[in-house]
Amino acid sequence: MSVTVRVPAKVNVQLAVGAARPDGYHDLANVFLAVGLYDEVTVSPADELRVTCEGPDADQVPLDRGNLAARAAIALAERRGIAPTVHLHIAKDIPVAGGMAGGSADGAGALLACNALWNAGASRAELLAICAELGSDVPFSLVGGAALGIGRGERLTALETGGTFHWVFAMAGRGLSTPAVFREFDRLAEGREIPGPVASPDLLEALAKGDPEALAAAVSNDLQPAALSLFPELADTLDAGRAAGALTALVSGSGPTTAFLVRDPGTAEKVARALRGSGTCRTVRTAAGPVAGATVV
Ligand code: C5P
Repeated sequence: MSVTVRVPAKVNVQLAVGAARPDGYHDLANVFLAVGLYDEVTVSPADELRVTCEGPDADQVPLDRGNLAARAAIALAERRGIAPTVHLHIAKDIPVAGGMAGGSADGAGALLACNALWNAGASRAELLAICAELGSDVPFSLVGGAALGIGRGERLTALETGGTFHWVFAMAGRGLSTPAVFREFDRLAEGREIPGPVASPDLLEALAKGDPEALAAAVSNDLQPAALSLFPELADTLDAGRAAGALTALVSGSGPTTAFLVRDPGTAEKVARALRGSGTCRTVRTAAGPVAGATVV
């Protein structure tokens, strides 16, 4: 017997970052959109906890107990007083260390799958609480759609969306560590007054209307200067996508994946072709959102 859960990637259409807090985290106003690139987590009974992974980036995924899928299984098992003897298999299509919440997706997926496999009966609220312990982006991987995250990004409010947004994503030749990007943000911010992060009313309205032009005019990512400082070549990828007809181009979350909002699927194909030919990135994918969060398949 096994259970498989499909979990989407995310792009941040707004990532407003406040000053570093005493606990080292940053207060955020984080507007997430789930997009149709998926990891699948399959869980089945085993003699001991085991993680395996397949996919183009599988060799970069840690298979030890630090893997978010393993940590999710352990967290749920501990709460139920049972042994986490389960085989977690990840079919990985979300880029690793890409700023698209691939690790978070695996954590949310493993949690939902183990809850079903073990008949553990955790409520939605309990699952969300475990997700928030696992990482700031994990609750969103569970709920999907579009949402505003405040606090570390883990306190979510669902957002209305009036249509589907079309995207192109360019994956870079190497990853960026999220803590390193936040540290660079702090370094660049030194000596400056950092305002409290707030969601942009124009951006929320653009999402609610399903208006890609208005959304393009309102997107922002406060981590982008830090990501570009650590990975300056990303500027060439952003330029290549803009020149090919994207409405806007931005770094996704802490990067280094770059995201290009386009008007329609036809333009997505055109921009994807241009990016593939630009020599400025490793792989290029198209995806639309919002899509549902973690779902048993
Ligand atoms: O919560 P998560 O483990 O995903 O965060 C990874 C790292 O990103 C944190 O250790 C911290 O360095 C940084 N971070 C932050 N502020 C946030 C979320 C993450 O500084 N709101």
